[in-house]
Amino acid sequence: MNKLKSTLLSLVAAAAVAGCSDPGSDREMDRFIDGLMKKMTVEEKIGQMNLIAIDGSVMTGPVTESATGEKIVSGEVGALLNVMVPEKIRDLQELVVTKSRLGIPLLFGMDVIHGYNTVFPMPIGLSATWNMASVEEVARISAVEATAQGVNWTFSPMVDLSYDARWGRVAEGAGEDPYLASEIARAYVRGYQGDLSRNDNLLACVKHFALYGAPEAGRDYNLVDMGRMRMYNEYFLPYKAAVEEGAATVMSAFNEVEGVPAAANKWLLDDVLRKQWGFDGFVVSDWDAVREITVHGIGDLKEVSVRALDAGLDMDMASQGFAKTALESLGEGRITEKQIDRACRRVLEAKYKLGLFADPYKYNDLKRLETDILTPEHRAAARRIAAESFVLLKNRENTLPLARKGVVAVVGPFADNRPNQLGSWAFGGDIEAPTTVLEGLREATKGRAEIVYAMGCNITDDPEYERILASWGRALARDKRSDAELMREALAAARRADVVVAVMGEAAEMSGEGASRTELGMPAVQQRLLGELKKLGKPIVLVLFSGRPMTLVEENDKYDAILYAWFPGTEGGPAVADVLFGDAEPGGRLTMSFPRSVGQVPIHYNGRQTGRPAPADGSITRYVSGYVDESHLPLYPFGYGLTYTTFEYGDVILGSAEMSPGGTVEASVEVTNTGSRSGTEVVQLYLRDPVASVTRPLKELKGFEKIRLEPGETKTVTFTIDSGMLEYYDNSLERVLEPGAFDVMIGPNSAETKSATFTLLKQ
Ligand code: BGC
Repeated sequence: MNKLKSTLLSLVAAAAVAGCSDPGSDREMDRFIDGLMKKMTVEEKIGQMNLIAIDGSVMTGPVTESATGEKIVSGEVGALLNVMVPEKIRDLQELVVTKSRLGIPLLFGMDVIHGYNTVFPMPIGLSATWNMASVEEVARISAVEATAQGVNWTFSPMVDLSYDARWGRVAEGAGEDPYLASEIARAYVRGYQGDLSRNDNLLACVKHFALYGAPEAGRDYNLVDMGRMRMYNEYFLPYKAAVEEGAATVMSAFNEVEGVPAAANKWLLDDVLRKQWGFDGFVVSDWDAVREITVHGIGDLKEVSVRALDAGLDMDMASQGFAKTALESLGEGRITEKQIDRACRRVLEAKYKLGLFADPYKYNDLKRLETDILTPEHRAAARRIAAESFVLLKNRENTLPLARKGVVAVVGPFADNRPNQLGSWAFGGDIEAPTTVLEGLREATKGRAEIVYAMGCNITDDPEYERILASWGRALARDKRSDAELMREALAAARRADVVVAVMGEAAEMSGEGASRTELGMPAVQQRLLGELKKLGKPIVLVLFSGRPMTLVEENDKYDAILYAWFPGTEGGPAVADVLFGDAEPGGRLTMSFPRSVGQVPIHYNGRQTGRPAPADGSITRYVSGYVDESHLPLYPFGYGLTYTTFEYGDVILGSAEMSPGGTVEASVEVTNTGSRSGTEVVQLYLRDPVASVTRPLKELKGFEKIRLEPGETKTVTFTIDSGMLEYYDNSLERVLEPGAFDVMIGPNSAETKSATFTLLKQ
């Protein structure tokens, strides 16, 4: 062992004795990192700022003989991503600890987005649960499974607000509302990071900072341009919430903000994130984003790396901008060693907080592979939470729940389709693990109803489109029989049936990164099949898989029931069966408005009043802010979702007609279950400031409560409105509280509310 290594080991031992795995002991951490950094060369410091993907030879041979291994040994790497084999992670950690000069442990990052081995609903579906305990549980289980395999850093939560269903990445987000997305961001961070002294929690990374969800025309990576007032009052809030909750890392976005790509945007990374919000973790770029700044047209790799470091970027993912240029820039005086130290220190601090210096092998307990993965408990949670995420959009004359009797025809390209059930970020998900909808329905009806199945059609019949989608990785499951043959089979099955369950929608590859769409309807071949089925006159229940809001005007008119199942994950099949037969209720409420047509996009419920508002009932008229060929209202509003029972809301009763600054007002409403089944309601509180010094949103969600009611039962739900909820950022970006009237609106969704008004008094 060389001298330096033994010095590090003694530092480690001293730190362990001093309890350095306790994230609270900042002074100990500082002392430890000071000592370590004194031993580091500049090159080694720059190495900590470098996150790379492994080269192929890591997987095929001993890690010592790979190019990645060489870099690790020479201290050129601070973190790796996408190493999916636990034994390899252990070998790589051992390599850095035993063979590199200082033995600084590595971070292992991965996109653990909606579960790891046990796959949960896509994040947009998870957001539809409006249940923070469920979001936290998903993050917690994801952390347990990922850490059992050596992953100690997840690139989640993604909380980019978006009003634009064309943008494929809405699948990965938490919808359109700043308040709800902020609560969700907090829940993810709690679930992932929890107590970092444990070996089954991991670092979170809130992304993509900032405004990634607002690209022009819905095209991924495209120009974002918005006013700061909107940033501060809407788009920034979920990232800020994650930071407040203690997210250890932040990922910068691909897009530019006010003309400067986020990874090199000093205003974003330094002024807003660190100075205004107090973030003290490290910032990593998105994949290759530093190099991409050269493509944006800001300079060569050396120039953009200088700008990124100066802006406050600490780690470069994949493009190796710092690794390739920082030393030279330092020699030329374009950056300082202090800047390098700052970035390196932040990375080392994250490693310290994880406890890696005290025990570099903390996450390499391979025995956990036998106990912690795809457990019956994890699968049960996946089933329960999937049902909670399903949104019942339509239910003509109580078509659902179905009785377990007669013949049920199950058709559609998603009915028996394992890969598509998982969604687009299911790296760790075993493709064989999911139970499909068909299997779920068979299991649920055993001996009581007959299930007849026919696929009916492929997901799409557009060969060009298919080629593009298949090139992305997971080929579409295509049946080679002709469309006519597939349809004949489905019609024959449906003729025999009492009810048709059509499991349809868009493929997992049609949403997610780089998958923006100009059409948001169901693929034509599926629509054709539905049209033919309709002619048989049987009740049709549509179960839709999708990662985004789709345009469903025709489907809403024609079919009897529509259950939106997103990409429901490993236990999606049984969960669909649970809901279709009424063993579970459809628990979801929309977190994005569903447009009537693509032309309405971007669309969101919390817009601002114009001088010429369109009629509130959605009727069409000219010279107002609407359309001459379509209502301006969405098909299904934010917050919407039916249940198997009905609820009635009483009037909104205020505890007081006035509020003093710093004070509170209580707003209550009685909610009664007027149906014949027990059910869960999401009671939603919205506020509006009708007259202010700048224009304010028509409605803003400020609270919600999930309540369960038996038939005939009434509960009073009381929200406490405090004056902090009335504050906002004005156009000088001052946080202000302005006296005057405020409307309180409470209801089952953003479009059907009852209201009352109180006055905020002057100071
Ligand atoms: C995505 C990120 C992701 C990263 C690493 C990028 O292309 O935008 O969300 O974390 O890749 O996989």
